[in-house]
Amino acid sequence: MEILSFFSNSWFLPISLLVFLPYIFIYTIRRKSSIKLPPGPQRLPIIGNLHQVLGSEGIHQTLWNLSQKYGPAMLVRFGSQPFLIISSSEMAVEVLKTHDQKLCTRPYTESGKRLSFNHMDVAFAPHGDHWRDMRKVLVSEFLGAKRIRLYKNVMESEMESLTRSISLHSLNTTINLEDVILSLVYDVVCKTTFGKSYKGEKFNGRTLKEIVDETLVTTGASFSAIFPTFGWILDELTGWNRRVEKCFTDLDCFLQRVLDDHPDRNETKSTDDQPMDFIDDCKSRLTSDELKALVMNVLEGALDTSTITTVWAISEIVRNPRIMLKLQNEIRSCVGSRKSSVNESDVAKMTYLKMVVKETLRLHPPAAFLMGRECTSPCQIGGFDVLPGTKLMVTAWGIGRDPRIWKENPTEFRPERFENMEGDKNFEMIPFGGGRRACPGTNMATSTIEFVIANLLYFFNWKIPGGVKNEDLDMKLYGFPFLRRTTPLCLVPTKHIWQD
Ligand code: HEM
Repeated sequence: MEILSFFSNSWFLPISLLVFLPYIFIYTIRRKSSIKLPPGPQRLPIIGNLHQVLGSEGIHQTLWNLSQKYGPAMLVRFGSQPFLIISSSEMAVEVLKTHDQKLCTRPYTESGKRLSFNHMDVAFAPHGDHWRDMRKVLVSEFLGAKRIRLYKNVMESEMESLTRSISLHSLNTTINLEDVILSLVYDVVCKTTFGKSYKGEKFNGRTLKEIVDETLVTTGASFSAIFPTFGWILDELTGWNRRVEKCFTDLDCFLQRVLDDHPDRNETKSTDDQPMDFIDDCKSRLTSDELKALVMNVLEGALDTSTITTVWAISEIVRNPRIMLKLQNEIRSCVGSRKSSVNESDVAKMTYLKMVVKETLRLHPPAAFLMGRECTSPCQIGGFDVLPGTKLMVTAWGIGRDPRIWKENPTEFRPERFENMEGDKNFEMIPFGGGRRACPGTNMATSTIEFVIANLLYFFNWKIPGGVKNEDLDMKLYGFPFLRRTTPLCLVPTKHIWQD
């Protein structure tokens, strides 16, 4: 007590503050100046650099343009939050490989937490044991050999009925290929995951597709993600929070119905008509919330991405008659003439098709940026300090067309560029991300895209309606997080006539 009153009542405190204050000041300044933050554009108070990215060009293009000025590791602020924008292959290696462990958690958002059933999933879960366990379940149960066999069987039969129905279309009927491919991918993914497609059914007044679309939007950025102190007020006033809640209720309503439709079955009850699906196999191992969260990831991860990529691939093929002809020759010679279906083993032989799909993923990765990441321990990227709490946006779109890597006409669609390329281009194109959080569905996605293209080009020739030349196909794009065609891909099929 005496000691305490000595410190508080005497001259000791003011004098020691006077002596030590300059030292504390110099220490803080030194520490601050020894931190070398990445360069970035000037920012405004409160909103940071938001005004610079809200233009009509699209955020992927604006950030790419800014990075050409400030460098491949560029620091911007959206609201009060620092974002490191990564836009070169070298920096991507540092983020996804060298410092992967310090940079592989996902940024926290209220909506991400809600719609992933409290981070019970893989994609939105913070890095840690639960994420690891759930990723293992997804990889072994949804992407493992048994499910892939079922997936391929369902895909072959759905594809056969699709090509049959296109053949039945009268000559010169225009088909919206995006609708057709999306519907095919939905049917295949849904039937493999929960045994049926729930097409036409409504859940709280919304179809499954509407729920999936809304989930994609509402897991994105909100005011509270960039203004943690007062953003929740804006989210409340703008109705965002109610929108997220409604989306969660609809999603949960659909997923609960799926679980209810799956009474406990065991392997012995599986029949050819009704094979064990993903839900049957996982129901006894996971809690309801874990299972719902995993299914949400499958729907969000697999449907739009595979469809958008296939649509871009067909757009590029149709726009380039030389490529279309070369590809059709390969597909038709690998399958043989007058076959009623194309199967997986035929596709395995199609080397040019694989190059076409790679070139599509290079030039048109469906997600312009990888999913968000956040720094958890200090590290250096490109010689600059990255502090904990910094969010990372890695541009897959920009890296795929970087002229320093893709030297010959990087924006030209030329599958032959992969002809003499040794091995896979690892960080020189990153449509599926990399490191611990890389997309686990890479193989399923690429084989789906290859299979759909092989079928559509084996049976049919495609042209643009209205006498427009194929070369003049509109290739404008829009959107975030996915880069879609601005205009729907509407084409006219004609059935291929065998000459011999
Ligand atoms: C063309 C198709 C696809 C593309 C371009 C794609 C792309 C991506 C990208 C860029 C990421 C983030 C990677 C990162 O942060 O480094 C990702 C994550 C993920 N993808 Fe895919 N994806 C596709 C198909 C699929 C499929 C078919 C599934 C099926 C299960 C899937 C499930 C997931 C999951 C669960 C994650 C989160 C992984 C984690 O956080 O650990 N994706 N995907």
